[in-house]
Amino acid sequence: VERVFSGVQPTGNLHLGNYLGAIVNFVKMQETHNCIYCVVDMHAITQGVDVWGGPAELARNTREVTAAFIASGIDPKKHIVFNQSQVSGHAELAWIFNCVARMGWLGRMTQFKEKAGKDRENASVGLFDYPVLMAADILLYRATHVPVGEDQKQHLELSRDIAQKFNNDFGDSIRSHGANDGLFFPLPEPLIQGPATRVMSLRDGTKKMSKSDASDNSRINLTDDADTIAQKVRKAKTDPEPLPTDEKGLEARPEADNLVGIFAALSGRSKAEVLRDYGGGQFSSFKNALVELCVTKLSPIAGEMKRLVADPGHIDTILNDGADRARAIADETMKQSKDIVGFIRRR
Ligand code: AQP
Repeated sequence: VERVFSGVQPTGNLHLGNYLGAIVNFVKMQETHNCIYCVVDMHAITQGVDVWGGPAELARNTREVTAAFIASGIDPKKHIVFNQSQVSGHAELAWIFNCVARMGWLGRMTQFKEKAGKDRENASVGLFDYPVLMAADILLYRATHVPVGEDQKQHLELSRDIAQKFNNDFGDSIRSHGANDGLFFPLPEPLIQGPATRVMSLRDGTKKMSKSDASDNSRINLTDDADTIAQKVRKAKTDPEPLPTDEKGLEARPEADNLVGIFAALSGRSKAEVLRDYGGGQFSSFKNALVELCVTKLSPIAGEMKRLVADPGHIDTILNDGADRARAIADETMKQSKDIVGFIRRR
């Protein structure tokens, strides 16, 4: 059975984009794959402490993302749910990959450019190195499939480049350690699926919905209550035209396209099907239906998250158990990686 790995950062404000772009697919993959879902707390600290909120906030957000996974339907007994910093192999393999990846590759990453902004000299080295740690996350488990939102596509391509260069650089050593095909790391494939792989801001259809947007009205948080969801959807930016009757009519109408995409993803239908029901009508009645759909789908998740975070000890037990199982796989990869590189290890 193929292995899936993916992660979510515990940086607060988990939103509908994270849910539809990633978590919904995490849930689906459980039926056909062995899945490892990670709360990537080491990635979370790559921006300033003002962004991730400090130690108490980080721990709180780590438990909240874990709760969101479970409340959405991830089974931590059948699959593995844990937080990254509990398995030291992530950092160890990232170091080896730091010496495989090239500065030029990382310099092209658009997420770094966006997050570092103009003041690049002041960005942390960790933020620049983020995609290398991500490659280590995936390849530590030799995962072949990675469900992510559209925004992570470039990072996945970099993971493949790193895997390939490692296999090339150490080809002879890999073969002398028993892998005759010289392929120690698989080339992981992104799985970017569904009608909402890139959920956009409710205030600006050209910007992605994001945890760090200063405006809370730009996103629907998984913890929002029914009234807040209703308010945010009703205030969502639209254009003055009625909804088009087919998908082609959504071109050059980013806000309409986004809302129809959200409706489609939440209802398990295509955009064309949604437009068959609502095309030609005014936004106001469509928005009412969207509010009802969001509340129906998200309220049970919010309720279950609330119940779970009220018992942090239980969540920590789940994370510890998941980390033990993750470590067993990771340790094996690290042993072999160290042998391949030529690091003498304790026997
Ligand atoms: N708007 C989005 N639409 C679809 N998928 C999205 N994802 C994030 N935003 C959207 C997917 O969610 C997963 C987890 O993301 P993350 O928390 O690890 O990092 P991120 O992409 O940096 O999340 P944000 O919300 O955009 O945070 P900030 O504001 O810090 O940049 C990933 O699979 C991602 O693709």
